[in-house]
Amino acid sequence: MKKQVKNNVYWVGKVDWELQKFHGDEYSTHKGSTYNSYLIQEEKTVLIDTVWAPFAKEFVENLAKEIDLNQIDYIIANHGEVDHSGGLPELMKHIPDTPIYCTANSVKSLKGQYHEDWNFRVVKTGDKIDIGNGKTLVFVEMTMLHWPDSMATYMTEDNILFSNDAFGQHYATEKLFNDLVDQCDLMQETLKYFANILTPFNAILRKKLDEVIALNLPIDMIATSHGVIWRDNPLQIVEKYIEWSKDYQENQISIIYDTMWNGTKELAERIAEGIALEDQEVTVKVFNLAKSDLNDIITEVFKSKAVVVGSPTIGNDILHSISAFIHYAKSMKFKNKKAAAFGCYGWSGESVKVINKLMTEAGFEMIGEGYRNLWNPDENSKKEAVEYGKIIAKS
Ligand code: FEO
Repeated sequence: MKKQVKNNVYWVGKVDWELQKFHGDEYSTHKGSTYNSYLIQEEKTVLIDTVWAPFAKEFVENLAKEIDLNQIDYIIANHGEVDHSGGLPELMKHIPDTPIYCTANSVKSLKGQYHEDWNFRVVKTGDKIDIGNGKTLVFVEMTMLHWPDSMATYMTEDNILFSNDAFGQHYATEKLFNDLVDQCDLMQETLKYFANILTPFNAILRKKLDEVIALNLPIDMIATSHGVIWRDNPLQIVEKYIEWSKDYQENQISIIYDTMWNGTKELAERIAEGIALEDQEVTVKVFNLAKSDLNDIITEVFKSKAVVVGSPTIGNDILHSISAFIHYAKSMKFKNKKAAAFGCYGWSGESVKVINKLMTEAGFEMIGEGYRNLWNPDENSKKEAVEYGKIIAKS
């Protein structure tokens, strides 16, 4: 059933309560998600985005209960990714000639995915369509936020920015608006989404935000394509994005390790103790990578000023969980963060050297040579690990 957003604007999307993984298995969605589609019923009827492909049939059936599909004058595809365009093949079976407004890159992505030659109308920043009743839709290209084809659509008079992925969260809720949901859940999921999806595009994002702010558009609502609509102080999320895009960090040090026989785990906990003894202000968090969610850990790395990475030596190398973590962290292109390495070994003991090399390549500034320990830590080694934690805190 459609839900009113404002005046003649309605939400006609899908709440996906049971989604646990997104982008294949790449992104954990502990709180599900929503695929927000919007129906505008002014003199012209406009559909903005659709839903993920598995819900296409249900989406079109529900939409057909609300309006005669032939009444849709324009479809806006703000982004070609399948979680928003996935309803198009089913919808276009019913209204094959309806124009689809999108960027040139979106034509490429839609054709590439669905192999259909729909009635595409290519738009670029500043292009407009009149939807009657004195209202206009204005398009703003959002290139690389987060795909080359991404776009936002601004509706005049109602002052709604349909921002697509930007400012979203993977957060299932029946409540449409930001002021109606648990604020801790909302901000945690919004931050996780930014940390894992938008961090690599920080420089582009800062430029785009400046560009959008310079347009000086009155914004009453930011209607994203995932999660809630920002209507209570909508600019709060723009301000957060500006803050987060400036190589963000809090006063936090995260210790991230994996362990085979708990020697490296012992070091992790002693290093945490040392950091906390040296600096009572800093937040210290410890994560066993094998027992934690990688996307949640990346969110913690995003918040950290330093990360301390530990692995025992295995086969002259490090545990594959740590390799995967560093590889992922590298792809996030984090800046302005320090790192340190540690680990236990029995024979040759290369892990610390390997971590130093990989973390340097991932863009982290290493603190010293790292700390390694032969066999299981004895009382003396535990004291050394505490001291090592103090050194990290000092630096
Ligand atoms: Fe929510 Fe880039 O798709």
